[in-house]
Amino acid sequence: MSEHLNAVQKHIAELRKELNYHNHRYYVLDSPEISDAEYDKLIQELRKLEADYPQFLTPDSPTQRVGGAPAAAFHVITHPVPLLSLANAFEKADLLAWHTRTAKLLSTAQFDLVCEHKIDGLKIALVYENGQFVQGATRGDGIHGEDITLNLKTVRSIPLSVPGDAPTRFEVQGEIYLPKAGFKKLNIERENEGEPLFANPRNAAAGSVRQLDPRITARRPLDIFIYHLGWAEGKATPETHWETIQWLKSLGFKTNPYMRKVNHIEAAEAYHEEWQQKRDDLPYEIDGVVIKVDRMDYHETLGDVGREPRWAIAYKFPAIQATTKLKEIAISVGRTGTLNPYAILEPVKVGGVTIERAALHNEDDIRRKDIRESDWVIIQRAGDVIPEIVGPITSKRTGEEKEFSILSKIYDKDKGRPACPVCGAEVIQPADEVMYYCTNAACPAQVQRRIELFVSRGAMDIRGLGEKWINAFLEQGLIHDMADIFTLKEKRDTLIELEKLGEKSVDNMLNAIEKSKGQSLARVIYALGIRHVGEETAALLADNFANLNELKNAQESKLLTIDSIGPKIALSIVTFFRQEQNLLIIAKLKEAGVWPQREIKSTAGLPLTGKEFVITGTLKAFSREVAQDRIRTLGGTTKDNVTKNTAYLVVGEDPGANKLTRAKTLGTAQIDEEKLLAILEQKN
Ligand code: IVH
Repeated sequence: MSEHLNAVQKHIAELRKELNYHNHRYYVLDSPEISDAEYDKLIQELRKLEADYPQFLTPDSPTQRVGGAPAAAFHVITHPVPLLSLANAFEKADLLAWHTRTAKLLSTAQFDLVCEHKIDGLKIALVYENGQFVQGATRGDGIHGEDITLNLKTVRSIPLSVPGDAPTRFEVQGEIYLPKAGFKKLNIERENEGEPLFANPRNAAAGSVRQLDPRITARRPLDIFIYHLGWAEGKATPETHWETIQWLKSLGFKTNPYMRKVNHIEAAEAYHEEWQQKRDDLPYEIDGVVIKVDRMDYHETLGDVGREPRWAIAYKFPAIQATTKLKEIAISVGRTGTLNPYAILEPVKVGGVTIERAALHNEDDIRRKDIRESDWVIIQRAGDVIPEIVGPITSKRTGEEKEFSILSKIYDKDKGRPACPVCGAEVIQPADEVMYYCTNAACPAQVQRRIELFVSRGAMDIRGLGEKWINAFLEQGLIHDMADIFTLKEKRDTLIELEKLGEKSVDNMLNAIEKSKGQSLARVIYALGIRHVGEETAALLADNFANLNELKNAQESKLLTIDSIGPKIALSIVTFFRQEQNLLIIAKLKEAGVWPQREIKSTAGLPLTGKEFVITGTLKAFSREVAQDRIRTLGGTTKDNVTKNTAYLVVGEDPGANKLTRAKTLGTAQIDEEKLLAILEQKN
């Protein structure tokens, strides 16, 4: 290799080392040393070098985390060694019985234990070979799991490579989870999109990690704790579980900081007590603690029963449930007009929080659970999750309870028909839907909810303009829709006169409104509140359209060509832009200067940036469309005809004579399918 290439290769290696170091500080240790901007600069530099010198690109490079193209389905893999589950203890007596049994089998009661959080997420296994992360899979049934390697690569706290002194092949197991904050945000977004909510962070994590499109997974703030070494080859491993965890940590894995080594079972019991009290303070959900025997040779001695090791036990927390009286089922109106039933409860404390309301998803759900007004009900709260009604206590029924029906609840005698409880408009239930809708787009409740979404954090992010003020401004006639927010500055004096709104907070609010005019196209699209268009879809749209005008004029067929946009979303978008009042809002936004343009995402730095490909003939491994798509994902462009700008002519079976001749005349490089595959897999 030339001296120059040597130097480049060395510099690339240094950059990767530095980036991996900062990645680890940020995502694993939670203690960054450099700013995001400095990090971005480094990664840009590496991207550029890898683009210019693709021969040095490797799959474990820190640039390779953003998910690739979507898959049709996950491959099923067989775990080299079956993954075990855990036996449960629900009460102190169960725990003590486990300890006594274990002591008997070990012929001693003197053995150390490691206490850990039982993370409420999804169990996964990661395999490393020759220092590289090669496979990540779900537990599945313990024997077979799904290959989710590409998705797991987007999780920054999973190291893509480990130091050279790690075993040649080994597997670690851990729990992938969505932190409480990420879960909350995701559900708010889903609510805005009209998508069903995830019941708990575990379901949300499972849903995120099992996305066929890794780019969606990449946007979800998934994290991981590694808690077990499955197997290892080529090197002796530590003799205790505690040391194993320290060792895994030294290899770069994220381990839980609250593990504790104790030497008697009462201390393990105390650990359980302690975290039952403190679980709400943690940024992630736990549903119990796990107690493990420390010495690895004892694990051997104890062995497994069924799929459960005898050397560990999950000591669960009691569910946070309570009983109370359901006073009434009331109805609120959502942003898209949905009539949402909810329960008004006799206030009750559940796990330290007073609950007065609980969501009741829809009429079918209420019927299925047979929940009636005046029932005594069991309610349940899981951490930050919206409290839910588990079911009625039928034995407490007196005969006074009333079965619920939305239509009779909202029946308006004067009008002689069911009516929206807020505006009185007609109510419909579209065929094939369980929800009822208020048909009046100008319904004050709908308008209020739309504006709330517009100003929310993920959208225009206008701080200081909360629910209360939106409501007041609407009532005073100061605004009629979201775009009117930008005219508020002309009404500063009126605002200051409004009850309790001081000069300072008015100015803060007006400044925040002014500042929001610079929000990105993706945020503005999301802020419009188009049904089924959440933050993720909005970001996709913003990549594909130059501005709101282009999006407004987009045909359904054009929308459907975008990955991850199906008929439901496409229809919803075109319907949105057909509505007069929405067009008016768009015009007003433009007038106010809220008119973002697509951010030219520099493809600079992607491996194929600046390279134009033309394909001729039939490819064997994939269709021409898929090949083109993959080229574009890596920053390249594709054209139908060979020009002097063409970098490569890809020659498949039965190539077109014209293209071949033209390539010959222009001296264009010709490559076969195999070579293309090598480029796409970045082996070169
Ligand atoms: S050890 C052989 N440790 O709980 C090793 N599991 O209900 C078995 N879990 O399948 C796993 N936190 O998904 C272990 N600190 C922890 C855990 C943990 C959560 C999960 C894991 C397991 C399930 C059993």
